[in-house]
Amino acid sequence: MKVIIDTPEQVAVLAAQRYVRLLSQKPDAVLGLATGSTPLGLYAQLVRLNQAGAISFRQVTSYNLDEYVGLDGTHDQSYRYFMNHNLFDLVDIDKARTFVPSGLDTSQETAAAYDKAIQAAGGIDIQLLGIGNNGHIGFNEPNTPFGSTTHMVELTASTREANCRFFHSLDEVPTHAVTMGIKTVMQAKSIILIALGQAKAEIVKKTIQGPVTELVPASVLQLHPDVEIYLDPAAASLL
Ligand code: PGA
Repeated sequence: MKVIIDTPEQVAVLAAQRYVRLLSQKPDAVLGLATGSTPLGLYAQLVRLNQAGAISFRQVTSYNLDEYVGLDGTHDQSYRYFMNHNLFDLVDIDKARTFVPSGLDTSQETAAAYDKAIQAAGGIDIQLLGIGNNGHIGFNEPNTPFGSTTHMVELTASTREANCRFFHSLDEVPTHAVTMGIKTVMQAKSIILIALGQAKAEIVKKTIQGPVTELVPASVLQLHPDVEIYLDPAAASLL
């Protein structure tokens, strides 16, 4: 794993450069995208670069990591809404080629079809990841099998509490989500994980320097041949 440590602003700039390079070589690349606070700086950079004509998403296909169960895309806390609002509506991407797991159809057939669609599109060129305080990637909570594909999960209490800040109350935070599995993520050709802030320092250390274990889902990334981890000094402080 390659670890890059810089200010949050510079992390966004450097990560955005990866997308500029990829899309200049492969304009029809397949992007695996993520939600949460962490990618917002990167998305702002991508919007800026798109508006400046330095990058185009016109031929891109995208697959998001996850979605809350029970929220449709018009709900302002759904991840479809987040993506439209923070990226898709602001760049030249064809929305018909942007995919987010369904929060309403949680059948196994639909989950399996999501993985099949990714493969049929040629596989993900760059998968973007944040990391939960408990080491989750996507919504793959601790103890998720490394062999998992897209599936429905029950969110842990710590994840629901961490995400409560976006809802009016804890009761409103969905109890389940649909997420790409660990295997789905690991099949991406390249992976970029971004972690910012002191609260992530402990889990970042376990991810990079600890044993590879299903107890720390992100530790599986040690087994992937092309991973870049972008950290600010606070998130890197225990390395
Ligand atoms: P955050 O979430 O970017 O809001 O910290 C990351 C995650 O839970 O994967």
